[in-house]
Amino acid sequence: MSNVRIPRSEYARRRKALMAQMEPNSIAILPAAPVYIRNRDVEHTYRQDSDFQYLSGFPEPDAVIALIPGREHGEYVLFCRERDPERELWDGLRAGQEGAVRDFGADDAFPIGDIDDILPGLIEGRSRVYYAIGSNAEFDQRLMDWINTIRSKARQGAQPPNEFVELGHLLHDMRLYKSAAETKVMRHAAQISARAHIRAMQACRPGLSEYHLEAELDYTFRKGGARLAAYGSIVAAGRNACILHYRENDAPLKDGDLVLIDAGCEIDCYASDITRTFPVSGVFTAEQRAIYEIVLEANLAAFDYIGPGRHWNEAHEATVRVITAGLVRLGLLEGEVDELIAAEAYKPFYMHRAGHWLGLDVHDVGDYRVGGQWRVLEPGMTMTVEPGIYIAPDNPNVAKKWRGIGIRIEDDVVVTKTGCEILTGDVPKSIGEIESLMTAARQEAIA
Ligand code: GLY
Ligand code: MN
Ligand code: MN
Repeated sequence: MSNVRIPRSEYARRRKALMAQMEPNSIAILPAAPVYIRNRDVEHTYRQDSDFQYLSGFPEPDAVIALIPGREHGEYVLFCRERDPERELWDGLRAGQEGAVRDFGADDAFPIGDIDDILPGLIEGRSRVYYAIGSNAEFDQRLMDWINTIRSKARQGAQPPNEFVELGHLLHDMRLYKSAAETKVMRHAAQISARAHIRAMQACRPGLSEYHLEAELDYTFRKGGARLAAYGSIVAAGRNACILHYRENDAPLKDGDLVLIDAGCEIDCYASDITRTFPVSGVFTAEQRAIYEIVLEANLAAFDYIGPGRHWNEAHEATVRVITAGLVRLGLLEGEVDELIAAEAYKPFYMHRAGHWLGLDVHDVGDYRVGGQWRVLEPGMTMTVEPGIYIAPDNPNVAKKWRGIGIRIEDDVVVTKTGCEILTGDVPKSIGEIESLMTAARQEAIA
């Protein structure tokens, strides 16, 4: 299973599908992600731009895609780095123009260094340019320079484009619907991440630090074939769990505390995103158990509202109902559940939404509302379900015993024809399963 990837044919299908939606006589232009410098001669690990990746699978920087429906000499033009034995000796192999055509399906490929001479000629005479306007200031400027090059030749009969259209409008709607191949890759990413969470639970001991568990995650991601985590892993013990995007991961794991791990790996640029919360000691206290049961009930309730015909917000509403009713049961909120929901009384405890689209980006693209209405779910849409309860350490309105508890349970699901498939079901989440997994790990360590 280590070679689960999007097949080349799928990239061709996506380009075709995008071009079929573009107006006649138009061009789409997309730059690759830049290389980011970490310090002096050191670069951040390269990650391709998600839109660029979606249409090409081409993994290199310094590249530009031009899609030109109906162009006689080929509709898919790729500008990329030239082969260079000296540079390749230092930095690794490059596809070059030959590789771009042979391995990545380009109809035509040119050296990126020639783009100023060639791209204006490809734009010239096309009335519409599809482009991610405003997301890359440097490339915006270059595009305007190319347009001005064409304008400067207007007296010779050159025709500059007269419309710029936001490419994301078409492309991000395509990305929202995952194909069978995409679901397969995302399922694989989720399975590796599930193993990572299990390994962290098994390794957890009082006296270790949050980074020890992060190391178990990284080890499992890498061993599973993932190059990168999909986002910075959150390993938050005790009250740190009440910081939603906690990143320090350097505090000690104390007996009696919970630890919240929000982490997932990326496979072929597709994200997984899992949260589990478990006791450092392996056994929940009464208060932790009470809050945990509510969050778990909310997580499970949400799945009943994810399926074709359901709208985006139904799962969120289900989690709000369960959490509000649970907080009333425990005396953390007082009043009628419906009134408390209307007044958003749950928000000091549950301040985020129940989920987000998931795909090439961990917070993936795609509109949540269409024409002012919540989006109706359709097969292939993929999202997280991640209710949580966070009781601020300094919340004066609740008894001391509750303060500093932070719990989130997050799964990844894809909408199917009849409901939804949970991609992250391999990680235990009931109290019984977690406690027995952790107990077994400790007994094995002692034996
Ligand atoms: N890991 C970020 C999130 O759960 O949305
Ligand atoms: Mn998430
Ligand atoms: Mn998450």
